[in-house]
Amino acid sequence: MVRTWAVSGVDLHLDLTGTRVRATLESALREAVSSGRLAEGVRLPSSRALAADLGIARNTVADAYSQLVAEGWLTARSGSGTWVAARPATGRGGPKPAAAPPPAPVRYDLRPGSPSLSSFPRTAWLAAGRRALSAAPAESLGYGDPRGLPELRTALAGYLSRARGVHAGPEHIVVCSGFTQALGLIARVLRSRGAANVGVEAYGHRHHREVVTAHDLRVVSIPVDDDGAVLEDPVVSRAEALLLTPAHQFPLGVPLAAHRRTRAVQWAHDTGGLVVEDDYDGEFRYDRQPVGALQALAPDHVVYAGTASKSLAPGLRLGWLALPAGLVEEVAEAKRLADAHTSTFEQLTLAEFIASGDYDRHVRRCRTAYRRRRDRLVTALRREVPEVRVTGVAAGLHALLDLPPDTDEDAVVARAAGHGLALEGLRTYNPDDDRGPALVVGYATPPDHSYTGALARLCATLTE
Ligand SMILES: Cc1ncc(COP(=O)(O)O)c(C=O)c1O
Repeated sequence: MVRTWAVSGVDLHLDLTGTRVRATLESALREAVSSGRLAEGVRLPSSRALAADLGIARNTVADAYSQLVAEGWLTARSGSGTWVAARPATGRGGPKPAAAPPPAPVRYDLRPGSPSLSSFPRTAWLAAGRRALSAAPAESLGYGDPRGLPELRTALAGYLSRARGVHAGPEHIVVCSGFTQALGLIARVLRSRGAANVGVEAYGHRHHREVVTAHDLRVVSIPVDDDGAVLEDPVVSRAEALLLTPAHQFPLGVPLAAHRRTRAVQWAHDTGGLVVEDDYDGEFRYDRQPVGALQALAPDHVVYAGTASKSLAPGLRLGWLALPAGLVEEVAEAKRLADAHTSTFEQLTLAEFIASGDYDRHVRRCRTAYRRRRDRLVTALRREVPEVRVTGVAAGLHALLDLPPDTDEDAVVARAAGHGLALEGLRTYNPDDDRGPALVVGYATPPDHSYTGALARLCATLTE
């Protein structure tokens, strides 16, 4: 129902009964300013006062004001109010269109790739480090085994078996500086064994492709569909190794279907090729028990790779490989040449963190928190922008948002930046993308206190 409200002496006709209250208010104010009805220099009511008048949330008014400030229609000085901005004359007497706003600082970040860093369990991590370091003999602080500390490899073997069904003893594990180094070590070994081509999913991190090519290996692009990587000839017959994200394809968010898992293992058996399983977020599944690691189907043909970058923090630079027995020595040698071994101090802490049950507790807490965040994302989009579809399974730390086919993905990302919201388009992960416009939203990234604001900006960006 449209009603008329006097704002700074000017009538605004507003329908505040729908779901797009902010957009309605914003466009009414924009019209009033651009038509000159709200004249330059007129002071607007405070967001609190206007919100009370209109019977809407203060944030809604504040967000509408911020947007119009960003567009150049209004000016604001922190603590002293909001005015209609000066508009230079065009020379023909009419108001000049607002200049493109300078990029707003990033206030909200929904790019994928990071867990909630503000949820890092600092106290428990420090306590585990103190306990581990107090108990560690002096000799353990010298140069160590390139594969990693025995106590960490034992803790990891137990954890991976319990949580992901991985078949590996401590003797199969090599601790690395995250997945990035793990992939580099495997690439080095593959190259030294004479491999030339690695199959890599067509959607994924450019960084991972670069790690492969930096080792003088060619990347063969594997198409991805709703069942995950399409493991068909001629692509797979050209590759000596396949890099896959079976639990949750990054970034499309689909699991590798059962028939494709079988196919991957069959390919490895038939060709003697190696499958590298990037299990970057395998612990986070919300709609069912996680599918176990592919590695368990063929421990002699699949390298399992895990990381603390999603479960704890990327800054730790901790990752691990569970290797076929025949690869351990060569990978350990590559690790020795790369950096002798991963920091003993971080290894001691992680070993204690896992052994004490803190790791399981932390992962459980994160799982609950991320599941809630994902649910809120889905609910907000369904309510405010039903034409945007969340695809992929309920898992991990990111979701794929399919935009209507005629949407300009880059324009959406740019518009979000104008709201201080950092977003990433699907094309970042495959410049030849032919799936259509989409966003890869990292719902775990913002700290708790700004998640509501981030969702509001996302919906506002998508409704514009
Ligand atoms: C698909 C994928 N694999 C692996 C990783 C982890 O990499 P790292 O352990 O080097 O931080 C990430 C992190 O963003 C990722 O998105």
